[in-house]
Amino acid sequence: MPQEVIRRKRDRHELTAAEIASFVKGVTDGTVSEGQIGAFTMSIYLNGTTTAERVALALAMRDSGEVLDWSATGIDPRTIIDKHSSGGVGDEKVTLLVVPLAAACGLTVPNLSGWGLDYCGGEMDMLASVPGYDGAPPPDKYMKAVLTAGGAISGPTAELAPADRKIFKVRDVTATVESVALITGSIMSKKLAVAPRGVVICVGSGSGAYMPTVEHARELAESMAEVAAGAGIPSVMLLTDLDAVLGTAVGSAVEMVETVDFLTGKYQDPRTKELTIEVTADMIRIAGVAPDMAAARALAEARLADGSAAERFGTMIAALGGPADFVVRADHYLPRAAVVAPVYPATDGFVSGMVAKDVGLALIALGGGRKRPDDPIDLAVGFTRFCQVRDRVGANQPLAIIHARNEVEWEDAARRVRAAITVSAAPPPPSGPIVIDRIERWP
Ligand code: URA
Repeated sequence: MPQEVIRRKRDRHELTAAEIASFVKGVTDGTVSEGQIGAFTMSIYLNGTTTAERVALALAMRDSGEVLDWSATGIDPRTIIDKHSSGGVGDEKVTLLVVPLAAACGLTVPNLSGWGLDYCGGEMDMLASVPGYDGAPPPDKYMKAVLTAGGAISGPTAELAPADRKIFKVRDVTATVESVALITGSIMSKKLAVAPRGVVICVGSGSGAYMPTVEHARELAESMAEVAAGAGIPSVMLLTDLDAVLGTAVGSAVEMVETVDFLTGKYQDPRTKELTIEVTADMIRIAGVAPDMAAARALAEARLADGSAAERFGTMIAALGGPADFVVRADHYLPRAAVVAPVYPATDGFVSGMVAKDVGLALIALGGGRKRPDDPIDLAVGFTRFCQVRDRVGANQPLAIIHARNEVEWEDAARRVRAAITVSAAPPPPSGPIVIDRIERWP
C-alpha cells in the first residue's frame, strides 16, 4: 500500500528496496496518485535517506522502463558517454552544447534530459521551442537519431525512465526539488536508462543551484558516483560554481539562440565555454579517445572552432523532426515575446553579486516556468544580455534585456532583476574557475 510506504518514511524508518520498487511501480502504472507522490517526496526531502535507499530509488526508477541496448549497432561501446547537470540558472544549455561537441569528437552521446524544474530551466523546454522537435521519441527513433548525429537529446518517455517523468512534475511544484536522494534518483535513472559506459555530471552549488554550498554539492556528487559505480560505470562529477546566472540568456527560446550563437562562434560567454570544454574533455578522456585532459581539451577546442559541433547540432535537430536549416535560421523559427526592452540599474557601478535563484523565479513569474505540474509555459519569455559579475552597468549599460508578454509582467520582472543584482562602486575580485573540484570514481 503506497500510504504504508509513505507512513514509514514519514516516521523516519529506512525503506527496503522492495518497498521503494513497489512505490515506483505504482507511480509508473498510475495506481499511486499525484498527492501520494507529493507526500512521498516531501517525506524524503524532510527525513533524508540512506545510501542503500538512494541506490534502490535510482534503480527502481531506471527499471520503470526499458534500458537501451546498443550491442547490435556496431558502435564501440567504450565511446558511449552521457552528461548531465544537477541544475542551475542558465546551466542546462551546457547540455545542448556538450552533446553535439562530444559527438563531433567521436563519442556517442545518448542524452536523456529534463524539463525546467522549479527555478532552473530545462533542456526539454528549450528544445520544445524548436518547431517539430520530438522530445519524447520512441526508443528506435531515438537510437536512430543518436546514430545519425552522434548524439541526441530526449526527455524521459513512456518507455525510458517513465517514473521520473511523473515524479519530476510533482517535485517541480511541491518545493521538493532540493533533495540529494530525489535528484540522484531522477538523474541516475535517466543516465542508466540509456546504457552509457560512463557519465560526466555537473553538480552546481551557489545561489543559482539546488545545492546551496559546495559541501552539499559534494554530498550529491558522492551519492550519484555511488549509484554509477554500483551500476558498473565510471563517473566524473564536476563541482561547479553557479553563484551567478551562467551565460547571457535565461529562458527557453532565448537560450536556444544563445546555443546556436555559441556553436557557430558568434558569441561564446567565457564561463560557459570553460565549462563546456571541461565537461567534453572529461567525456573524451574517460572514453579513452584521448590519453589525458590536455589532449582531450585540445580536441574539444578544435571541433568547436571548426564548426563540426554546430553541424552535429543541426543534424540532431533535423533527425528528431526539427527544421533542417535551424542552425542558420534559428531566429526565423523561434517564438518571440511581445515586449522586449532593457532594464537598467538604479545606480551606476559594477555588478558585485547576484541571487541567481531570484532570476529563475523571475522567469517563472514571466510565464517561463511552471506553477502546477501540467502548466504550459511561455517559451518566448526570458532574459538576454544578462550581466555578469564584474560587468560595468549604469544608465547606458543595462542589467539585462527582458522579454515579456506584456508591460505589466515586464515591470514586475524589472523589479525582480534589480532586486536580485548588487551593484557596487568598485569591481569585486575576479571569480575563481567555474569547476571548483572534480570527483572521479571507477567501478
Ligand atoms: N536534473 C534532473 O534531471 N533531475 C533533477 O532532479 C535535477 C536536475
